[in-house]
Amino acid sequence: MKALILAGGSGTRLRPITHTRAKQLVPVANTPILFRGIQAMVEAGITDIGVVVGDTAAEMRAAIGDGSQFGPGVTATYIEQEAPLGLAHGVLIAREFLGDDDFVMYLGDNMLEQGLVGFVDAFEGARSSANPPSAQILLKQVSDPQRFGIAVLDDEGHVTTLVEKPEVPPSNYALVGVYLFDASIHEAVASIEPSDRGELEITDAIQWLIDHDLRVRTEILTGWWIDTGKLTPLLEANRLILETIESRIDGSVDAASFLDGRVIVETGAEIVNSTIRGPVAIGARTRIVDSFIGPFSAIGADCEVVHSEIEHSVVMDSSKVIEIPRLEDSLIGSDAVVSRSKRKPRALRLMVGDHCRIDIE
Ligand code: DAU
Repeated sequence: MKALILAGGSGTRLRPITHTRAKQLVPVANTPILFRGIQAMVEAGITDIGVVVGDTAAEMRAAIGDGSQFGPGVTATYIEQEAPLGLAHGVLIAREFLGDDDFVMYLGDNMLEQGLVGFVDAFEGARSSANPPSAQILLKQVSDPQRFGIAVLDDEGHVTTLVEKPEVPPSNYALVGVYLFDASIHEAVASIEPSDRGELEITDAIQWLIDHDLRVRTEILTGWWIDTGKLTPLLEANRLILETIESRIDGSVDAASFLDGRVIVETGAEIVNSTIRGPVAIGARTRIVDSFIGPFSAIGADCEVVHSEIEHSVVMDSSKVIEIPRLEDSLIGSDAVVSRSKRKPRALRLMVGDHCRIDIE
C-alpha cells in the first residue's frame, strides 16, 4: 500500500502565519502537523509516500526531505500541483506514482487522535472478503457540518450520498481527511467535472464509485479529529497533544525554578528563575527567564521569554516575548518580537503585518 499526502492548497484561514509558512507545517506541541500524519502512516507499515505540493513546495521538500528521517525505508516522492484544483485533482496528477496500488490519501492539515493501523487493517481485511470494497471513508459526527464533506448513510450504515460543504446539511457525518482507495478511483477522478468552486472534489469521485456499484466502506472515528486550518482548532490540537506528553528534561533548570506537571525541556534550553506548569513543551536552545509558562503552551526553539507570563499559547521558533504580564490563547509566528518598553510617551508601538489580529486588554 502507498500513501498520498495532500500538502498543497492555500492557508487563508491561518494568515498571517501562512503568508510565510505552509499551513501543514505549523507546529503543534513543537512538531509540524504533517509530521504526525507521516508518523501514523509509517506506524501502519506504509513507507512509499507521495506528497502533493503547491506554492510551498520548497518548504515541504526542506522539511520532509527524502523521507528517511521518518524511519528505515521511508521514501518521499513529490508531485507538483500547478494550482489547488481540488483533492481529486491531487489523485489525478499522482497517477504515475500510485500505479495500480491501493493507497491511503491523507489531508496534510488533519490531525487524528488515533493512528491509522486499525483503519488500514479493516480495509485490507475487507479487501480479501467475497465483496471487496473499492474505497473506505472515515466519518465523524460534527456540530458544524456546513464546513465539511458530508455523508448520508442508509439504515444499515452504508453510504448512499456524499456532498461537499452543503448549505443545508443532509446529515452531520463529516468526512475526515483520511481515505483508502483501490485503483478504481483513477477512473472516477478522470470522469468527474469540476464543482461550482472550480475544484475536482474527492466527494464527487467517491459518489462516482457508489453510482457505479462499487462498494464504499465506512468507519466511524471514535477519537478526536481536528482540521487545523484555523486558530481555535490549532490551539485545541496543541492542547490535546500536550495532554499526552511525558516529561523529559534535556536542557537545564536552575535551582530557583520550579517545574510542575509534565514538561519537556529540549537540549540546550535554559529555565532560569521561572515556574513552568505543564503540560508544556520548551524547544531547543530557548531561554525562559523570570517568567511563568502555564498549561498547554508550546514554546519553539531558539526563543527568549523574559519577565513574562504565557498560557495556552503557541510561540514558534526564534521569537521573543519580553516584559509581557500575561499572554493567553495566542499564536505567535516565528522571528516575532512581543515586548514592552519604558519609552515615553506611553503608547502602543506596533509593526503589524497583513491579516494580523491583535486583541488589547
Ligand atoms: O478536513 C476534512 C475536509 O477536508 C473534508 O470533510 C472535505 O470533504 C474535504 O474537501 C476537505 O475540505 P477542506 O476545505 O478542509 O480542504 P482544504 O482545501 O483545506 O484541503 C485539505 C488539504 O489538501 C490541505 O492540506 C491542502 C491540500 N490541498 C487542497 C486542495 C484543494 C491540496 O494539496 N491540493 C488542492 O488542490
